[in-house]
Amino acid sequence: MATETRMVEQKSNRVGHMSKVQYVKMDIKKRKCRDIKRPVPVVPMALQELFVACKEVFKGPGTVPLPCEVEKLCRILDNMKLEDVGLSNNLPFFKHNVPVKGSPRVIYTTIYKCDKFSLCIFFLPATGVIPLHNHPGMTVFSKLLLGKMHIKSYDWVDPTNSDDPAKPCEKRLAKLKTDLVFTSPSSTSVLYPTSGGNIHSFTAITPCAVLDVLGPPYSMEDDRDCSYYKEHPYGSFSNGGMAMTEEEAKGYGWLEEIEMPENSRMDGIQYLGPQIIDI
Ligand SMILES: [Fe+2]
Repeated sequence: MATETRMVEQKSNRVGHMSKVQYVKMDIKKRKCRDIKRPVPVVPMALQELFVACKEVFKGPGTVPLPCEVEKLCRILDNMKLEDVGLSNNLPFFKHNVPVKGSPRVIYTTIYKCDKFSLCIFFLPATGVIPLHNHPGMTVFSKLLLGKMHIKSYDWVDPTNSDDPAKPCEKRLAKLKTDLVFTSPSSTSVLYPTSGGNIHSFTAITPCAVLDVLGPPYSMEDDRDCSYYKEHPYGSFSNGGMAMTEEEAKGYGWLEEIEMPENSRMDGIQYLGPQIIDI
């Protein structure tokens, strides 16, 4: 048995403080056969199991996983840990006392991507934000691997035109689905094309790592681009159309499509954790 340190190289300023995200020492198993000296990386079972399940479940655009398939993916994701993707909570990035220079940028890395699904990890420094955005025609599983974050999500009250681009300044009524703080290890959350909180925002309270499974992935060519929104309280506009108490109104909001906010820009880094075996 030998070990090898894998690390995310940080050679450009583009990724700045993300030099703190490093991949930990991975176990390398050497074959006993004398002729084969090359080490074979050990693929954590959970990551490979997740990949195989995704290959079975995601059948391409226009399909939504069945309840039993959702249950299966959640069961796998619920048990996944940082180590399954080559990370450790000892990394400097996850230490609370590490100062972040400038505005805290969110980082992402893609473990795998095909036209049916993708597996990504998002790294949010403390106070880092992924602003309110949608997932058109997509089912998304999110597993908080580490940290504490506030998640707020909405679904359209009238989802019939949910994939149509909103007209400039148009505000659409949305129902609040989630407005909670999650602390790892928490259960996997699932959003669907028209339910489960398809439009959401993440705000990190401590440094966080989130493993996302997106099926299908975003695709500009297939009209599944990401839109961003600004929220307005229900009471901001008189033409709500629904009679409700002040308390009930807290469960709704008006969402206005906006240009990509500056704080939505992320830095991408190469995934150098355990590799999936595509069989
Ligand atoms: Fe998202």
